[in-house]
Amino acid sequence: MCSIIGYTGRFGAASVLIGSLKRMEYRGYDSVGMATMESSKILVRKDVGKVIEVEKSLQLDAMPGQIGIGHTRWATHGSINKINAHPHMDCNNNIVVVHNGIIENYKQLKVDLQNNGHVFKSETDSEVIAHLIECHYSKYNDVKQAVIETCKNLKGSYAFVVIFKSGLVAGARQDEPLIIGLGKDGNFISSDVLGFIEYTDQSIFLDNQDIVILNENNVSIYDFNGNPVSRDVTQVAWELGDIDKGKYAHYTHKEIHEQQYSIEKAFGIQTESINKFIDVILKSKNIFITGSGTSYHCAMLAKYLLNKLSDIRTEIVMSSEFEYMSRLLDENSVLIAISQSGETADVLHAAKIAKQNHAKILSIINIPTSSLARFSDHYLTINCGPEIGVAATKSFTGQLAIFYSIVNKLSSTRIEIKFSDFSDIINEVLEQESHIEKIAEDIKKTKDIYILGKSLHYPIGLEGSLKIKELAYIHAEGIAAGEIKHGPLALIENNTVVIVLNPSDDTYTDTLNSVYEMKSRGATIIGISNQTNEIYDYFIKLPTINKLLYPIIEIIPLQILSYYLALKNNANPDYPRNLAKSVTVR
Ligand code: M6R
Repeated sequence: MCSIIGYTGRFGAASVLIGSLKRMEYRGYDSVGMATMESSKILVRKDVGKVIEVEKSLQLDAMPGQIGIGHTRWATHGSINKINAHPHMDCNNNIVVVHNGIIENYKQLKVDLQNNGHVFKSETDSEVIAHLIECHYSKYNDVKQAVIETCKNLKGSYAFVVIFKSGLVAGARQDEPLIIGLGKDGNFISSDVLGFIEYTDQSIFLDNQDIVILNENNVSIYDFNGNPVSRDVTQVAWELGDIDKGKYAHYTHKEIHEQQYSIEKAFGIQTESINKFIDVILKSKNIFITGSGTSYHCAMLAKYLLNKLSDIRTEIVMSSEFEYMSRLLDENSVLIAISQSGETADVLHAAKIAKQNHAKILSIINIPTSSLARFSDHYLTINCGPEIGVAATKSFTGQLAIFYSIVNKLSSTRIEIKFSDFSDIINEVLEQESHIEKIAEDIKKTKDIYILGKSLHYPIGLEGSLKIKELAYIHAEGIAAGEIKHGPLALIENNTVVIVLNPSDDTYTDTLNSVYEMKSRGATIIGISNQTNEIYDYFIKLPTINKLLYPIIEIIPLQILSYYLALKNNANPDYPRNLAKSVTVR
């Protein structure tokens, strides 16, 4: 879950790489590091913090060279400090490496290397790569062979980039993404196209177990046996403008607002592609849906919708639990995997298990070039543009929109959806922003928040509570409204904050009954509904829409509330502590 990047070209590497790291920082922001090389001299600079915080202390102006590598870290092995920050060097400062992933056998490798006289500086698993390459390079005096032999030694998941004193840059991947950017003024090797999109949209997505060696003019790709392989060049389409914050202070805020258009866009997806999904689903006996975090909450809502409106029976399983629930998978099964990034290791693992059991894989993703998309039989894109904020916002409503379109095709009762109305509907919700900000001010010091909802609203309660936890660091729980009397009621005392998702549908009266039980024990109630009620201490009004569509809009006030709770508690909503956008480790 780190970002890695390498560059070799005509520009000063440090000034190119710093921009790349800023754009990829969503992958990890514990520390930043860079190495550049000039006249066979490698210079390394690193520090703890986000790029913008350490940019000055890195003194990039004094880092010459047109070859360089960079890294932002999400710590796994070794605490967050300057020594453990990447890049890492070999004993003789001839080789410098950045790594993303986990080297599972690093302890044994480290002991073996130390016994052979290698001196380690950090506590990281990654440093073994530098020393292994050093060993093999001194034996073979060949970049390709040194990388191949190193990969043979490593167990686990990794993508790494290494600079050799000879001026060559090399990389290898095993279960972590690595993408080549082919520029007019130099070549890149990066965890994400965002690393080089400012310079080129010509990319090569390396396959698993590919090795690449590049300089300013040439890129050569080999498999782990050293055979040359050829990979397609793909043109990536995202506009650089989409990566700016525009008029917003935070990506998260911008992305919440973008839902005014992104939901409509997701609804308008490819009918033909949906038909392929429907075909596979209808032919399958067992239908599994999986995802992690927010994407899992989408899976839950999908199950409720399918159950309510069709005869389709589904099994939903969190991706991290999938391996323990996969006994029934066979050639008559389908796995629908949901993932914004398409790179989440738990989701990819679930998809691999499904494939091993001959099931079909359908995926719903935001990044069509992602590992999951490429691994699937068919995929649908939510098409909401880059989501940089660590908290999933517009991708969630995009995923929901896709599922509504799927369910609509599978059910006899069609949900009337007028796509073109959505931008006005979302605008009405967004107009509540300053009111929601005031509510955030009033409740910012609360220690616990409970979000109640029944049926379709329950997954939204779970998703809303995930937003509050990760953005504002306040304990929050989504609870199926009927469950409060089975335990959670014991937690309610004077001024406990309870949010209730209660639009006027078939759950309205039952949900209200649970709210009365909370209120009579002193809870402060925040109602989110199209219909007000005297029981609410605060009321956030939703426009009246088709009853089945409320989940798509009622999450937005919860996203806004979480955003302001974060600001009022001095948390940076774009960079929640301890988290990263793409969780590429299991
Ligand atoms: O990229 P994915 O949808 O696979 O990511 C899954 C989760 O890691 C992600 O939804 C995470 O829970 C978000 N931080 C939630 O806001």
